[in-house]
Amino acid sequence: MNSSHPACLYMAPLKGITDSLFRQVYQRHFPGLDRAVAPFVNPQKSPRYPEKLLADLLPEKNVDLELVPQVLNTDAEGFIALGNRLHELGYTEINWNLGCPVKMVAGKKRGAGLLPHPELIIDLLEQVLPRLEPALSIKMRLGYHSHKEALALLPRLEPLPLTEIILHARLGVQLYRGPVHLDHFDLCRAQTSHRLVYNGDLVSLEDFTGLATKLAPIDRWMIGRGLLINPFLPAEIKGIQLSAVERRKKLQLFHNDLYQALKERLSGPGHLLGRMKQVWIYFIGAFPGKQKLLKKITRASSEQHYLNAVASVVER
Ligand SMILES: Cc1cc2nc3c(=O)[nH]c(=O)nc-3n(C[C@H](O)[C@H](O)[C@H](O)COP(=O)(O)O)c2cc1C
Repeated sequence: MNSSHPACLYMAPLKGITDSLFRQVYQRHFPGLDRAVAPFVNPQKSPRYPEKLLADLLPEKNVDLELVPQVLNTDAEGFIALGNRLHELGYTEINWNLGCPVKMVAGKKRGAGLLPHPELIIDLLEQVLPRLEPALSIKMRLGYHSHKEALALLPRLEPLPLTEIILHARLGVQLYRGPVHLDHFDLCRAQTSHRLVYNGDLVSLEDFTGLATKLAPIDRWMIGRGLLINPFLPAEIKGIQLSAVERRKKLQLFHNDLYQALKERLSGPGHLLGRMKQVWIYFIGAFPGKQKLLKKITRASSEQHYLNAVASVVER
């Protein structure tokens, strides 16, 4: 990577995984990230936001990594109330989720479910932006059904004051599977002068160098599952070298730290194991040749079974 023009690396929001505690522990063990977008805050009907919903975004819990909170609202009043409350907490930028593909969300014309309706998106932004204190960025996909949806939307976003657009190079109907569509990403790129951040399937240094060459001069990259499949990716991109022994040690320390921190925060082993199993769905990728041991971890019904299963993967 050209050091005069370093890559800016974002931790993607992964709801149920990348909360403040995860971000803190991750950042302690794996260098190289520049900022994070937080998982979305659940939209509320009432514009008075219960503080409990914002507890994870309190600034004192988020000192290690620059953070952009994310909203999923599609009602102007709720959007503005939440955005301005986040501004009071100290956030100068928030992100709007136009990418969530899950039925419960998209079926209500939220997240990626709004992408086939550019008129609703523009109408909402025109109501919200003049009254929103923090700056706004958007995280979106190529479309819900077709990449033509982003091609129709992007020109209409041109006049609006957005800080950037994070574009996950998949369709909503793909959920998180199937190939990313770089050709369609490229077509979208030609339709926007907003700053663009690439997102989708960045796992290895080879993925990164290939994409950086193909998509130059894009220099902002959001990494999601790849941060668990290959936690050394941000460091590798930034040119930080680690030996195989250091890597193994770090993976183990990260796991133990996360487990301990979650154990202190969560009530009961059910919650703790549930959270750790979510992490392991991707983290198993950091242990090549051990994929078949994932089942032992995901089937563990007690802390001791879980720790034994983890030891069979981590310690060798
Ligand atoms: C378990 C899970 C939870 C996610 N939660 C969010 C979320 O809260 N907000 C969001 O914008 N994207 C969310 N995403 C999408 C990711 O941020 C990212 O766009 C997607 O995983 C593609 O990037 P990747 O291939 O690097 O993982 C989620 C993805 C997964 C797998």
